[in-house]
Amino acid sequence: MTALSNGRIVKISGNMVTVIFDSPVMQNEVAYIRHGEERLKSEIIRVRGNLAEMQVYEATGGLKIGEEVEFSGELLSVELGPGMLGQIFDGLQNPLPEIARQCGFFLKRGVYIKALSDTGTWDFTPLVKPGDRVRAGDKIGFVEEKIFKHYCMIPFSLQGNYEVVSIENSGKFTIHDAVAQIRDLNGKIVPVFLSQKWPVKIPIQAYAERLKPEEPLVTKMRLIDSLFPVARGGTYCIPGPFGAGKTVLQQLISRHADVDVVVIAACGERAGEIVETLRTFPSIVDPRTNRPLSDRTVIICNTSSMPVAARESSVYTAVTIAEYYRQMGLDVLLLADSTSRWAQAMREMSGRLEEIPGEEAFPAYLESRISSFYERAGLVRLHDSSTGSVTIGGAVSPAGGNFEEPVTQATLKVVGAFHGLSRNRSDARRYPAIDPLISWSKYKSFIDEKQKERGHEILRKGFDIAQMMKVVGEEGTSLSDYVDYLKAEFFDFVYLQQNAFDPVDEATSKERQIYIFDFIYRVMESEFIFEDKDAALHFFQQLRQLFKGWNSLPWQSDEFKGTEKEISAFVIGRSGND
Ligand SMILES: Nc1ncnc2c1ncn2[C@@H]1O[C@H](COP(=O)(O)OP(=O)(O)O)[C@@H](O)[C@H]1O
Ligand SMILES: [Mg+2]
Repeated sequence: MTALSNGRIVKISGNMVTVIFDSPVMQNEVAYIRHGEERLKSEIIRVRGNLAEMQVYEATGGLKIGEEVEFSGELLSVELGPGMLGQIFDGLQNPLPEIARQCGFFLKRGVYIKALSDTGTWDFTPLVKPGDRVRAGDKIGFVEEKIFKHYCMIPFSLQGNYEVVSIENSGKFTIHDAVAQIRDLNGKIVPVFLSQKWPVKIPIQAYAERLKPEEPLVTKMRLIDSLFPVARGGTYCIPGPFGAGKTVLQQLISRHADVDVVVIAACGERAGEIVETLRTFPSIVDPRTNRPLSDRTVIICNTSSMPVAARESSVYTAVTIAEYYRQMGLDVLLLADSTSRWAQAMREMSGRLEEIPGEEAFPAYLESRISSFYERAGLVRLHDSSTGSVTIGGAVSPAGGNFEEPVTQATLKVVGAFHGLSRNRSDARRYPAIDPLISWSKYKSFIDEKQKERGHEILRKGFDIAQMMKVVGEEGTSLSDYVDYLKAEFFDFVYLQQNAFDPVDEATSKERQIYIFDFIYRVMESEFIFEDKDAALHFFQQLRQLFKGWNSLPWQSDEFKGTEKEISAFVIGRSGND
């Protein structure tokens, strides 16, 4: 290998530094600025002749022209291996709880802490034997980590076929111990460790093929699963104005979605939000395992007070970690909250580079960056024919809740489902505040197609009638229109809305959704006979109360069945069906 390049600072502009260098450097190469005792991490984002423009992942106060820069010869990478579950990292994979222990909440400039423990040991069990053929991404053994087998895999960067030369027996190893030696066709020997590095901006593709995401990913949110489903390995976005409930919704989904691992990229709106996450997260209980939810979660956390470059890198760090678990054959959900902060970081850096701005001063490559991020989602078949998936859900927080702005628009072009939150709904405390009249999904729901269509129809009709009633008043509305309006309201209140504070209502299984939807469908299709609007209103109010009680009862408990009989009798008593 040729000697690494050195350089000197020739210009400083905020978090952007221009460096003159002496031998070749790479785009996205990591470099360290030497400032006295400090070494400040930076990344090359543009090379022009012998000048490199670098974003510094630290505050740049005090830096001077002429200070020395060491290039590392490496792209910005993360370390992947056992020990990530339950961690809270910043965008450069510094473990935040460790930082809090060492230096209070905020990392001292130029201090980087190893993402994974150097000294911790793991119980390794081999899965291959000498002579076996292997290639990038293949599992050669595992360690037990919390509730999983954490597979040790052939480095993703290796090309072609290898043969296992030797492999360790069961025993305890650190992430720096070689557990196997493998040989390529030319006889070159490569050691394999429990961990490996991977450059965050390049997708991990050590799989056999990509499959079309078709199977619904159950989130247990009725409005999503029944009407605007997400597919396993698919993508969706949640745009919504500030305070409409994006973060609460993401948290609910992280607890209840039917996935193995959840990776959260929290590009926080406020610093307080992050401290809150750090404080409360470890105590959240996983409803599936009754163990801490953090046993199967990795959080990448950035606040708006961190340097912009570190914010920009956090989504890449998060998606790379998600892809890593997918390679093990797991289903992973990546939640990014909010991608608008990420886009703003891009805008700031583009401004400093003096690039030609696009719409609203976002860089012209905004769309391609957003689409290449969501393209890293996917359902894949691995070489051992198991499957793994990364599903990506991104919150978007457009200023003033205006969905016409560039980040929302670019996101809508690439995602498979759109869960648009509306201020009207959140003001009316109709949670989740996903607006069923603007949202859509290209994926298939597990609800019967005809029933689902009817659900949409009822909502649209109810909304139209409500709009009309605002003009002509209730008196000017016919009894049958009024009943249709009440049906839509009923459907919204007892099915689409879900009480996040009720232990049963907060999450509805697939079986229960199918059952309740079918029941509601039959109620909707009943021919009701009412003397007048008051009678209709009274009936639906009572029905709503009965139903809300039903929603809080455990699935198919005796009380559940009892209430079902009561509701059926109440409905039949009012309908002209018999
Ligand atoms: N599903 C919900 N149930 C009850 N209250 C909610 C729900 N979603 C949001 N809220 C209320 O709205 C507030 C703001 O929600 P949040 O998710 O932080 O908004 P956003 O992330 O869109 O800015 C919450 O603190 C909570 O009081
Ligand atoms: Mg939020």
